[in-house]
Amino acid sequence: MTRPTALTIDLDHLRHNFKLAQILHGERVLAVVKANAYGHQAISCARALDNLADGFAVATLEEALQLRGACLRQPIVLLEGLFEAAELAEAVAQDLTPVFHTPQQLEWLASAPQGAFDSLWIKVDTGMHRLGFAPQEIPQLAERLSRQRGICHLTLMTHFAHADGQQPQALDEPMQRLHQTLQSLRALPGLQVHTSLCNSGAILGYPAVRGDWGRPGLMLYGVDPAAPTMANRQPLQPVMRLTSRITAINRVPPGASVGYGALFTATRPTRAGIVPCGYADGYPRSAQQGTPVLVGEVRVPLIGRVSMDMLSVDLTDHPQLGLGSPVELWGTRLPVAEVAHCAQTIAYELLCHVRRAPVHYRGAHDLE
Ligand SMILES: Cc1ncc(COP(=O)(O)O)c(C=O)c1O
Repeated sequence: MTRPTALTIDLDHLRHNFKLAQILHGERVLAVVKANAYGHQAISCARALDNLADGFAVATLEEALQLRGACLRQPIVLLEGLFEAAELAEAVAQDLTPVFHTPQQLEWLASAPQGAFDSLWIKVDTGMHRLGFAPQEIPQLAERLSRQRGICHLTLMTHFAHADGQQPQALDEPMQRLHQTLQSLRALPGLQVHTSLCNSGAILGYPAVRGDWGRPGLMLYGVDPAAPTMANRQPLQPVMRLTSRITAINRVPPGASVGYGALFTATRPTRAGIVPCGYADGYPRSAQQGTPVLVGEVRVPLIGRVSMDMLSVDLTDHPQLGLGSPVELWGTRLPVAEVAHCAQTIAYELLCHVRRAPVHYRGAHDLE
């Protein structure tokens, strides 16, 4: 028997979630497929969305080149911009859209052929204090870019600090400042200004905030960024399933322990099921005792420390479960956000960390 741990990516669910984002956001929507599409395989996801999305967003030039190498011709926005001047030529050659967020990056533009970036994306810092220009710097910057480089389209992009969409009131001040900036840009002749404001949280939780280009990531993969604290705000469909089977059963007498460091000690005769999935597959080592694991139709508790290649679950109360029983570590019936919560992290991290398990696809494009 081959190791039964596998990743299934449902491309129909991905398309469903994208269409939902499109309906909620309106205008144009980029699919954020950085970090290997949050662990969901960037090329396959981008191909499945190619005739729906208005473009893609990634973090690095390498990620963009991967998509171009797979013949994806849509606009690609580089969310973190260029890391060095030498990347500019490649960005021009591959028709990529870097986001400019430092004065130094704008200086690099001098080496680009005139007209190469007549449409420019600029990042505005609305409170994250991570990347971007302050709103009050934008009018002067825009005037200079329009005069010196003939820029005629400017897209102001921001990423809200309250990114899970749960604090609409926290947006009052940044949105006010952004509107003031947009007002003052109206005075610049010949300059068309667009905006890109909404990630998943904003699309789901801030309906009063919209823009010309939405940038959903997590929700495309079927996860609400506010979960599990909040129930899903829209009918999202999980795209990733991490599954396995019970491959060994261990009878543990009272007083004996399970796994490294004797983290779990049996208080009764215990039937431990072994699942061949560990932190080398991306299952979090920090998952606490009792983290739910779906075996067959039943949620059973994780026991003992997660090791590199396997973990243990308590099957004592479920004699019908045993060798070969199907296991869902997370997916359609056990939300990844719930497992993440039990591991004191967020779904984003778990999804991005999956590796080693073979990938199977369902739906839209049969890519196997
Ligand atoms: C600039 C930017 N836009 C959009 C996204 C997508 O965010 P989410 O996955 O929360 O939708 C991210 C994610 O980190 C981001 O950094």
